[in-house]
Amino acid sequence: MSQSQHSQQHSKKKQTSQNELSESLSDDSPLKSSAYQSLLPILSFIKPYRRQVSLALFFLLFTATVSLSLGQGVKMVIDNGFIAGSSDQLTQTILVLIGMICLLAFGTFFRFYLMSWLGERVSADIRTAVFNKIIRLHPSYFEENRSGELMSRLTTDTTLLQSIIGSSFSMALRSFFMLLGGLVMLFVTNFKLTMIVVVCVPLILVPMLFFGRRVRDLASTSQDAIADIGTYAGEIIQNIKVVQSYNHEILEEQAFGGEVEKAFEVAKKRIMQRSFLFAAVILLTFAAISVMLWVGGMDVLAGNMSGGELGAFVFYAIMVATSVATVAEVYGELQRAAGSATRLLELLSLESAITSPQSSLLLPNSRSENKSESIAAIGFNNLDFYYPSRPDVAALKNINLTIEQGQTVALVGPSGAGKTTMFELLQRFYDPQQGCVLLHGISIKQLSLSQLRDEMGMVPQHPVLFSSDVMHNIAYGKPDASKDEIIDAAKRAHAHEFIKQLPQGYNSFLGEQGVRLSGGQKQRVAIARAILKDPDVLLLDEATSALDAQSEFHVQAALNELMVNRTTIIIAHRLATVIHADKIVVMDNGKIIDTGTHQTLLQTSSLYQRLCELQFEQGKSE
Ligand SMILES: Nc1ncnc2c1ncn2[C@@H]1O[C@H](COP(=O)(O)OP(=O)(O)OP(=O)(O)O)[C@@H](O)[C@H]1O
Ligand SMILES: [Mg+2]
Repeated sequence: MSQSQHSQQHSKKKQTSQNELSESLSDDSPLKSSAYQSLLPILSFIKPYRRQVSLALFFLLFTATVSLSLGQGVKMVIDNGFIAGSSDQLTQTILVLIGMICLLAFGTFFRFYLMSWLGERVSADIRTAVFNKIIRLHPSYFEENRSGELMSRLTTDTTLLQSIIGSSFSMALRSFFMLLGGLVMLFVTNFKLTMIVVVCVPLILVPMLFFGRRVRDLASTSQDAIADIGTYAGEIIQNIKVVQSYNHEILEEQAFGGEVEKAFEVAKKRIMQRSFLFAAVILLTFAAISVMLWVGGMDVLAGNMSGGELGAFVFYAIMVATSVATVAEVYGELQRAAGSATRLLELLSLESAITSPQSSLLLPNSRSENKSESIAAIGFNNLDFYYPSRPDVAALKNINLTIEQGQTVALVGPSGAGKTTMFELLQRFYDPQQGCVLLHGISIKQLSLSQLRDEMGMVPQHPVLFSSDVMHNIAYGKPDASKDEIIDAAKRAHAHEFIKQLPQGYNSFLGEQGVRLSGGQKQRVAIARAILKDPDVLLLDEATSALDAQSEFHVQAALNELMVNRTTIIIAHRLATVIHADKIVVMDNGKIIDTGTHQTLLQTSSLYQRLCELQFEQGKSE
């Protein structure tokens, strides 16, 4: 069983409680239907290029016809030139032959160019379509599917389709025409000999079909194994410092070697089947040709046919044989492509579980409009939530919370309490199983995703930077921001100073995931990004956790300024930073235990008291 089937079954098990994904992976998934059916939907990607397709088909037919007529040229050269013994006639017929070859070259140029163009164009379109699909999928999809696997679909699978559409398919079609045309010409040339060919063709087709099927199954396993290698290497390379620090080089070497060998074993089986396929086809075809030469040679000796006719006949027979061989070869490839197509179409047919509603409601559209004071800015209503990948444990249970416009609310509690999860639900990365999240009294499910997320500015627990320069990374918060706006945001996030000292200032490249910055610097870039976005609701997930006391003081000052007139939710482990919040929410085990101000909680909440005691005592002893 292939790895992808494994993982599908696995995810199927996991998802019995929810049906978002199971539809796309259901039993009538194209994996089980025939190879051709799974290739059919690809046609819709070819459709827009009808003109190019018809031109390519025209040249394909054209070159096939010219190739077929070459046989007549061969016959003329032998009969009119050699047998007739006339050098003039020989020259003439050779000239005709050269003319035909020129036509063939001319047609081949256009056929090859147009077909390859189609392959590249269509695979580019599919690549884009798949990517566009992926970036809109609900985040839980990526918890169940490894990124390396998705990447290999974007690269390996689409490349395979490109070679199929651009070359293999064209080869198959051309060979098919030549096969038909060749057979007709064979009948025209000599009926008796043709019967030998006709008997032999099914003999060749049988092993082709038999091995072809096996090749297809093995190919898709092979593809999966390669994807595994990519995923594995990607993860190791990304975490190279951890690997080296734990001296895991040898272990990783062995593990990676194991993956590579697994892929090789699968590939070995596949090439074994293909080798059998080629050998069988060659053996059968050339044996048939030899028999034919013998029978035909006897006829020429007996004067029943001319030497030119036999020459032309052999020419056509070889053409038919190579065509059959090509079809056999390409057939295997088509089977492989069917596997790729299936996987790609599977991705394309996924529907995101988190989508904007058909007709979305509008939020009051500016801060100045004074979003109705009587309605809370944010509300969590009787909310229960289970992560799709962990359906038995509630990440949030019975959450009720209202946050007024402009308020600053702090979420505190032990690790794993569900604080970050609150942010995830607020931004609608997941939908709760029970209850709802309200923004200005409107359920966020009734808002368009873009409107909802426009409202929010998030500084995540682990700041995420892109492998690009500082400018781009800050401007991610507002792509059309001017340089001055970006620098201003950096200044307010207390990032300007260190950015100026980078080798190329704001144009310094930060390395993959910003590896060239310290943790605190990354955090300040992330804060600058949120400041630049200037959102209505600010979500700070331990935004200052990686800063030293002094920069924390500065950044906190900047954040305090930013929080004015803005609804803010802060998650903080260091309680000193949230003492002044309007409301502190104490969470534990997915539940809200207590709510109040620092002062009231010190009186009423034992968990809060304990958290405070631990921290402030620790602070004193330091
Ligand atoms: N993507 C996920 N899939 C499954 N479970 C998850 C996922 N993310 C978080 N959890 C689980 O949900 C619970 C709450 O996690 P959450 O990240 O909200 O904790 P937290 O309060 O932010 O903790 P910390 O202070 O350590 O950041 C934890 O038990 C965690 O293991
Ligand atoms: Mg967290």
